[in-house]
Amino acid sequence: MQTQSPRLEIRNLTRRYDGRLVVDDVSLSVMPGQVTCLLGPSGCGKSTTLRMIAGVEMQDSGEIYVDGRLVCDTVFRVPPERRHIGLMFQDFALFPHLSVAQNVGFGLSGDRTAKSARVVELLERVGMGRYLNAYPHELSGGEQQRVALARALAPRPGIMLMDEPFSGLDNRLRDGIRDETLDILREQDTAILLVTHEPEEAMRMADEIALMRDGRIVQQGAPYNIYNAPVDRSAVAFFSDINVIRGTVRGALTETPFGHFLAPGVPDGQEVEIVIRPQHIKIDFDRNGRGPNPTSQDGTPARGVVERARFMGSESLVEFRMDHDGSVLKATVPNVFLPKPGKPLWLMIRRDRCFVFPAGARRR
Ligand SMILES: Nc1ncnc2c1ncn2[C@@H]1O[C@H](COP(=O)(O)OP(=O)(O)OP(=O)(O)O)[C@@H](O)[C@H]1O
Ligand SMILES: [Mg+2]
Repeated sequence: MQTQSPRLEIRNLTRRYDGRLVVDDVSLSVMPGQVTCLLGPSGCGKSTTLRMIAGVEMQDSGEIYVDGRLVCDTVFRVPPERRHIGLMFQDFALFPHLSVAQNVGFGLSGDRTAKSARVVELLERVGMGRYLNAYPHELSGGEQQRVALARALAPRPGIMLMDEPFSGLDNRLRDGIRDETLDILREQDTAILLVTHEPEEAMRMADEIALMRDGRIVQQGAPYNIYNAPVDRSAVAFFSDINVIRGTVRGALTETPFGHFLAPGVPDGQEVEIVIRPQHIKIDFDRNGRGPNPTSQDGTPARGVVERARFMGSESLVEFRMDHDGSVLKATVPNVFLPKPGKPLWLMIRRDRCFVFPAGARRR
């Protein structure tokens, strides 16, 4: 069986500004019909990467391939308009002197009837069917953004580069437009590279996430893998609040008030951080001073007193001050659980839910 080849592939892309590495040896590929999310904090080099793929900016080194054909290296360069790449950028601009329908139809060739049918179809799908004859200055920011989306989708690009394309839309509208846009792109087997700094958006949309930091991709994989097998403490923290418990390794084990944790391959004397998300801390009652009643999976309970408890809507967030060292740990509990401040409770950490990293280690 022949394996499908990537629609878009970039190899070792690098870009410096004033001697500073802003994109550092980035490689990734996107298959037709697939969504890859470049996810990372502000300033990590996401937009610069997209601009190089689009061809509006030159890389210092590295190559870009479309359907296996070289599009750009440091010598050879296909101009942006001949790359057949659709763009939806952060700073999208509609043509001010053209109507909504003319904006969307701008890049379309073919006969008039087919063109106008495509324009109407797309505008309806993004909820802008009523504004065919309006002009950009008559629209709100979010409405303009939807027209820009329709314009980018119209020529059925083989590759779509999207830079925070839904950022100007309110939450309720965003979910609908996002799903609709993905449906349209998947129908035409487009390869999608989407930039976002929001983990929820990436988890919701991506087949694959490329987690970016300081110009580099630190981890790449299915959302499930990135969330459940993060490469370092920062990768855990990018997706949720975290708790960190410190310990020192002796014989591949770290002893803590919560019992022993495995630290395979970590040398003796090395400090490690045991990282656990608030939803994976288990709480047990004090039973009038008789203590908790853990199952074999729960590990050793450690006692703390409630410092603060807040109801967050679908869950409650409880903060504890721990007896053993006075540190604060956070736990979330589904629904309503609002114990009084000062109440003693016991916390447990499941071995299979925590991540153990050498202290201070960051994937480079
Ligand atoms: N033309 C330029 N000249 C100099 N520095 C630049 C230029 N463009 C971007 N940078 C710098 O490169 C770094 C990466 O910028 P980039 O726009 O790629 O970040 P980003 O990940 O898209 O961030 P955001 O989420 O805020 O959009 C930033 O520190 C930025 O200041
Ligand atoms: Mg950006």
